[in-house]
Amino acid sequence: MEAGRVLISEEEIAHRLKEMGDEISRDYRGERLLVVGVLRGAFMVMADLARHISIPVEFDFMAVSSYGSSTKTSGVVRILKDLDEEIAGRHVLLVEDIVDSGLTLDYMLRTLRLRNPSSIELATLLLKEGVQRVPVEARYVGFRIGPEFVVGYGLDYDQLYRNLPYVGVLDEHSLGVC
Ligand code: PRP
Repeated sequence: MEAGRVLISEEEIAHRLKEMGDEISRDYRGERLLVVGVLRGAFMVMADLARHISIPVEFDFMAVSSYGSSTKTSGVVRILKDLDEEIAGRHVLLVEDIVDSGLTLDYMLRTLRLRNPSSIELATLLLKEGVQRVPVEARYVGFRIGPEFVVGYGLDYDQLYRNLPYVGVLDEHSLGVC
C-alpha cells in the first residue's frame, strides 16, 4: 500500500535514529534507562531507536489515545494501558512517533511526574512545527515537519499505513475528501 508522496525516506529515518541513539547513550552514560513507548504509534520508532542505544535499558509501554476524529486531536487524552513498572527514582525516556498539538505529551508528563522519576525526557521521531497548543519539552527530535497529515512508520490514518517503512503525506484521494 502506498501513501501519497514520501516525506522522509527509510534511509533518512535510519540515519537519524542512529544519531539519536548515540546521543541518548552519551547523555545517560553510567545510568540505567527505562524507555517507555507510547502506543500504538511509537512501536516502530522504539524498536529501531532502541537498537542504537548502547547503555543498559529496560522497556515498558503506555497506551494512550486522544478522543476526536482520525485526523484532528481533541485534546482529551485517555490512558488505555498504564505502565507495568514503578518509575520513582528512575530515569525515564518517553518515545513518541509524533508531537502534534502537544496535548498528549503534556498530559503524560504531568501524570508521570507525580510518580517522582529521577528524570523524564521525550524522544520523538517527528515534531510538527508551529501547531502546539501547549509549550512542548522534547529533548530528542528526529525531524521537524510542517502541518501536513503524515502516515507511515507507526503513524496511521484510520488504523492503516502504520507499516509503511517511510513517512508519507496522504493525498486527498486517500483521505476520502475528493
Ligand atoms: C498520536 C501520536 C501521539 C499523539 C500526538 O497518537 O502517537 O501520541 O497522537 O498528538 P498530540 O500532540 O496532538 O497530542 P494517537 O492518539 O493518534 O494514537 P495512536 O498512537 O494509537 O495512533
